[in-house]
Amino acid sequence: MKIVLAEKVSPATLAVFQQEPGWVVVTHDQIKNGLAAELADADALVVRSAVQVDDALLESAPKVRVIGRAGVGVDNIDADAATRRGMVVMNTPGANAVAVAELTIGLMLALGRQLPKANIGMHAGKWEKKSLNGSELRGKTLGILGLGRVGLEVAKRARVFGMELIGHDPYVSAAVAREAAIKLVSVEDLFKEADYLTLHVGLTPQTAGIINEASIATMKKGVRIVNCARGELIIDEALLEALKSDKVAGAALDVFREEPPKDSPFTSFENVILTPHIAGSTAEAQEAVGIQIAMQVREYLKHGVVQNA
Ligand code: MLT
Repeated sequence: MKIVLAEKVSPATLAVFQQEPGWVVVTHDQIKNGLAAELADADALVVRSAVQVDDALLESAPKVRVIGRAGVGVDNIDADAATRRGMVVMNTPGANAVAVAELTIGLMLALGRQLPKANIGMHAGKWEKKSLNGSELRGKTLGILGLGRVGLEVAKRARVFGMELIGHDPYVSAAVAREAAIKLVSVEDLFKEADYLTLHVGLTPQTAGIINEASIATMKKGVRIVNCARGELIIDEALLEALKSDKVAGAALDVFREEPPKDSPFTSFENVILTPHIAGSTAEAQEAVGIQIAMQVREYLKHGVVQNA
């Protein structure tokens, strides 16, 4: 078997394949003549989020049977093209959920307490105590759009802060929501009732642009929005207008339509926190997604078993 690891992975990830007798592993730094050439005789491809696995690349991979994505979102992989070619696409939906949930909570706290402003002021030798009066998470309503692994991890942590939890997810059962103390509501009510709104859905035709002028218009004045999912969920112009009019009191964006974003107009807002798509970037999560996807790909190559853990 030949496995191409097109992006940097941990030594433990590599070891999952190396312990298989006769298997050849090509790491990203060993790819000298381009990924397409390397894939000509490969059986499996493993990527993170940077490599775009499009139809043209798949055309050069006639033997590849499985594509593993170390992470949740598979939007950098043309899954339809892969399926047409009989290739299985796998991801690791649970392995970085805690990392994403922890950043989400951190961003909510940072928004409520204006931590970036406080930090910038102190670094500049200012003592801006008066303008840094914050607001607590306790008692606020957190609207969670998407109650998959990440959404549920966020809920678990937000509950400890004394937040009221409401959520929307057409695929989640009432029992799961009840167990997590989340009141299931319609998407309209989610937008209407949330003091904090956090997005944890994948990018699909149904979710693209879900935060737009019309949906923002139905939200509470002073809502704060956190997006650690995908940039395309938000119509940027609508959010910018809402920030200008103070309809939205703050936003924390970890993901963008274009990454890295060029000349982002959001940088001029003191109440917008921007981070470079780091929600899943913890040592623990990167190790977990790498090992998990390696085990899933190995399992498929050896036994034809498909797992998405
Ligand atoms: C994911 O899809 O797993 C997260 O956005 C993190 C990442 O892409 O690395």
